[in-house]
Amino acid sequence: MSVNEWILTIDGPSGSGKGTVAQLVARKLGWHYLDSGALYRVLGVLALRKKMDLEDESSLADVARNLELSFQSGDVFLGSERISEEIRTEQTGNLASKIATMHPVREALLQWQRDCAKAPGLVADGRDMGTVVFPRAKYKIFLTASVSARAQRRFKQLRDKGFGVNIRRLLHEIAERDERDMNRVISPLRAADDAICLDSTNIGIDEVVSSVMNLVRFE
Ligand code: DC
Repeated sequence: MSVNEWILTIDGPSGSGKGTVAQLVARKLGWHYLDSGALYRVLGVLALRKKMDLEDESSLADVARNLELSFQSGDVFLGSERISEEIRTEQTGNLASKIATMHPVREALLQWQRDCAKAPGLVADGRDMGTVVFPRAKYKIFLTASVSARAQRRFKQLRDKGFGVNIRRLLHEIAERDERDMNRVISPLRAADDAICLDSTNIGIDEVVSSVMNLVRFE
């Protein structure tokens, strides 16, 4: 059986719920989970820490090539350091979105992501999982939601974590990030031609998870 038979890609904009859905589905299926956004976020953290020049694509690609990253029980580790929270800030997300426009960086991360496709299966979440990284995946979902629904969700998430946030600023930043992710030249955020599009604006995560599970179980 080809490796593509057991790959499920879930792409979509930030706040669509794809991360939560992907993790729940991976757990239910007993499959591995790839949070590809975490790769770009970790690069954002490293660029900040090392005070790197954000125009210097080749140095950022070098860092990407030598990334010692692992996912363990829902946590993200850089070497032996747990950086799960540090990569989730808005600042890191915005930096990640900028770094993600760089072709050499995306090239450097490609094989790392493809190597995650291992038995018994992989659920891969991101922007270009179904279009570029795993174009032959058997199951592809494109999950979306309105900008205001996504801003509300993000607001709640950040507030629950104790971060002070301004909803207007959040709306603006989400719209700006969408614009950058959808209009970049390399691997823009878009649904693969063979992806199933789901809109989570008015439906709960459980319902989305059920739809995805039905697709994989009964296809
Ligand atoms: O999914 P996320 O919010 O953690 O992703 C952070 C940024 O990384 C996002 O703005 C765009 C970029 N990204 C990407 O370009 N390609 C991916 N496969 C995943 C994320």
